Amino acid sequence: MTHDAIAVVDFGGQYAHLIATKVRRFHVLAEILQPEDSTEKFSQYKGIILSGSPALSSFGEDSAYNKDIYNLDTPIVGFCFGHQEIAKHYGGTVVHGGREWGPADLHLVSADSPLFKGLGPVERVWMSHFDSVTSVGPDFEELGYTTLGTSDAPHRFAAIGSNKLRRWGMQYHPEVDNTEHGDEMIANFVLNICGCRPTWTMERYVEERVEQVRQQVGTQSVFLLASGGVDSTVAARLLGLAIGADRLHLLHVDNGLMRKDESRGVIEAFEQFGLGKNLHFVDASDTFLKALEGAIEPEQKRRIIGDTFIRVFEDTAKELGIEGHLLGQGTIYPDTIETGGTKRADTIKTHHNRVPVIERMIEQGRVVEPLADLYKVEVRELGEKLGIPHELVWRHPFPGPGLGVRLLCSDGSAFTEGFAEIEPAVAAVAKQFGLAAKALPIKSVGVKADLRSYEHPVLVAGNAKWDTMLEMAAAMFKNVPGINRCIWNLSPAAPTRVRPLAAGVTRDRLDLLREADFIVMDGLRRHSLHESIWQCPTVLVPMEVDGCGREFVIVRPIHSERAMTAVPAELTARLVVELREQILRLPGVSGLALDLTTKPPGTIEWE
Ligand code: XMP
Repeated sequence: MTHDAIAVVDFGGQYAHLIATKVRRFHVLAEILQPEDSTEKFSQYKGIILSGSPALSSFGEDSAYNKDIYNLDTPIVGFCFGHQEIAKHYGGTVVHGGREWGPADLHLVSADSPLFKGLGPVERVWMSHFDSVTSVGPDFEELGYTTLGTSDAPHRFAAIGSNKLRRWGMQYHPEVDNTEHGDEMIANFVLNICGCRPTWTMERYVEERVEQVRQQVGTQSVFLLASGGVDSTVAARLLGLAIGADRLHLLHVDNGLMRKDESRGVIEAFEQFGLGKNLHFVDASDTFLKALEGAIEPEQKRRIIGDTFIRVFEDTAKELGIEGHLLGQGTIYPDTIETGGTKRADTIKTHHNRVPVIERMIEQGRVVEPLADLYKVEVRELGEKLGIPHELVWRHPFPGPGLGVRLLCSDGSAFTEGFAEIEPAVAAVAKQFGLAAKALPIKSVGVKADLRSYEHPVLVAGNAKWDTMLEMAAAMFKNVPGINRCIWNLSPAAPTRVRPLAAGVTRDRLDLLREADFIVMDGLRRHSLHESIWQCPTVLVPMEVDGCGREFVIVRPIHSERAMTAVPAELTARLVVELREQILRLPGVSGLALDLTTKPPGTIEWE
């Protein structure tokens, strides 16, 4: 290996990726390994971290990993599930019980553990576990126990270790920011205990990748699909640096479902980077709109958008003779690893990574993926380093089917099944918080217990503090079956009569959505919220309110890590006033609301 590196064993969920991201911040390469990978593979790393898992160690779940790693001389640390597995392997016991969730105080009982060097006697840590370690084997000692407040009995063995065996365990999650000095604990393991040299810097990454791309491409040329998203833009820039603009062909397709002026911006940006020479642009908006005519149902719309993309791409590719080039892709690290946490990301990935002509080229080994070992946050860092404008690097993620999944369609039917129970139930919950609420006779997509749901949003009217609104929404989801979203009315009057209207995907509706979306994105930038907010879909629902207007607008600002979960993001009062003034003034708009829904039970997109 070129760099000293850490292996992070992925036991599922999102834990392993978070750990790897943290290790990489210390300029040490961390790679995700599967539990069943070979001992030889593990032996190439200077340290091993066993991640947490949704499985229960006490029941022996997920315990069939390669235990030969314990015979290596390599230092190993386990977090949560990994901690319990280490305790068990070396003669300790793990029981089902002793659950802790949330913050806890870690009291260190051993002052000389290298894992806690430089830290205080009591550390604030983050717990999330059902199982607990209740004893350790002969070579191990208890390094710390946790309590929460003064009345809590100590939870023993929250940190354990054996300096002799070079094995350690932490019941809490040092990788999450809520563990105040988690970074220091990870750094102690990676830099001090494993002795990794911090050589994995962005400068080195660029040098190594440029060299690698040059070797792989030789005298050939590369063809890259450039959507304008961060990944493909950074990939284009890096490829341009490696092989020069003459041998880099870019294709940008406008599917008619882009944001306002987006294609123009993408083309200008590439020209500005000196990559305009072989830049091909196809305006396929008519083809897409024609294909979508009459489509109402969310999944049908997605399928049509995907199939049309394949057709347009295959036709254009043939015209441009792309089979004569290598294919460049902006694939990033999580997409290249198969785990429970990333499988879903695979299924929602942009369609152009999967069209038949591309799959053939992948099979033939004719694909160049210069970002394949980077996380999104690192792609952004690289983008900045390569001189890509800040604004472009920090763009919000945008779904492959574009505004197509934010433009709800309807045949005009009202969905009111179950309303006899739902209506009084939502009104009762809202009343407890001094608010009014009504269920809407439409449906949107959500996710409950890992399954997609298609249920009613609830419109809440009245004034309360942000935290109260979130509490009310949580109470609504907990107490009322059949609903998966809660939205907060921002129009001056509380709606009394709402009626879905028949509407499909049309250019006029898309233009209205583009305008509303532009107002929202512009507002976020002007109020310096664009970077702290992870994504902010604006949604159009064909719904008349109190006999006025045809389109109801919903704004959905969220905070998220990797889109698997999300919490609603608060906007400033001033921005809310501006959105109200500007959006309600757009022609045909019947109302405006702010989405208060966490994921789960709602998805980030409405379809
Ligand atoms: P949901 O709505 O499932 O979205 O909570 C999670 C993240 O994925 C994005 N998304 C997509 N991205 N093709 C994509 O490339 C798709 O079909 C697609 N659907 C959702 C969404 O914007 C969010 O960031």
